[in-house]
Amino acid sequence: MASDMIAPGPVPRLAQKVALITGGSRGIGETTARLFTKHGAKVVIADILDDLGEMVCENIGVESASFVHCDVCIESDIERAINFTIEKHGKLDIMINNAAVAGDLKFSILDNDVADFERVMSVNVTGVFLGTKHAARAMIPALGGSIVTIGSIASTTGGNTSHAYTSSKHAVVGLTKNVAAELGEFGIRVNCVSPHLILTPATVPIVEKYPDLYTDVYSNLKGIVLQQEDVAEATLFLASDESKYISGHNLALDGGFTVINPSFGLFSSRFRAK
Ligand SMILES: NC(=O)c1ccc[n+]([C@@H]2O[C@H](COP(=O)([O-])OP(=O)(O)OC[C@H]3O[C@@H](n4cnc5c(N)ncnc54)[C@H](O)[C@@H]3O)[C@@H](O)[C@H]2O)c1
Repeated sequence: MASDMIAPGPVPRLAQKVALITGGSRGIGETTARLFTKHGAKVVIADILDDLGEMVCENIGVESASFVHCDVCIESDIERAINFTIEKHGKLDIMINNAAVAGDLKFSILDNDVADFERVMSVNVTGVFLGTKHAARAMIPALGGSIVTIGSIASTTGGNTSHAYTSSKHAVVGLTKNVAAELGEFGIRVNCVSPHLILTPATVPIVEKYPDLYTDVYSNLKGIVLQQEDVAEATLFLASDESKYISGHNLALDGGFTVINPSFGLFSSRFRAK
């Protein structure tokens, strides 16, 4: 077949786009960076794990991915990461606030200490605030952009994670709505993606430490296991122009977990068994 008769492949969903991903050295952030570059984006990974982040970029290909050291709690680091992205690629279209920490798992609030609570709030909330603020600085003059923050089922429910983590993940949904209200005027969309539990370098040690807590975690959807790639796909959708009229939204990736209470109801196996 002549080359001019070859049917064109699917258009890359992030062609010409530039994305900054915090916490992209491993886990969900790394998987998202890999998917974004597959879809044509230039990606900058901003993380405190320098060696790992550099390795991921080399593995993806340095023409598509680059690394910048950045502690999201430090404003000058975030500022530098955004400036690095603009100097390298001329713009910032997509900001993914992914970096977060789980905090110590304590079974009584009396055992929780202020230092751990403040550390979690600093990374998970202040870090997202700073990422959003400096992304907006770059996006406002361009009159467009997409900011996506990774939330959690702990953004809407209680009792699944530590007090600090649950507080922090509720907070970022509030921040998302507030900033979406402000930045809509500039054509900038701001959204959240909120996944259920997924095995990543962050969660594997916790699941291993508390197997009883995490075996048979309730899932409304049988036979389907949530994976990092699913979060990356949802984030890709919100980052791309396919979601051009979605803003201020918290997209739950939980198979219905946060909206269904199986303990009482028409469809509970307890009721149907009778
Ligand atoms: N794994 C899950 O079950 C799960 C479920 C729901 C939501 N999430 C969210 O997904 C996101 C990614 O989680 P993950 O499981 O991939 O975690 P992870 O620990 O594997 O990856 C987090 C990354 O963030 C980086 N990071 C941590 N503190 C940082 C800081 N101060 N500055 C810059 N980078 C920093 C880490 O170095 C790491 O590379 C987080 O927002 C998390 O809360 C995870």
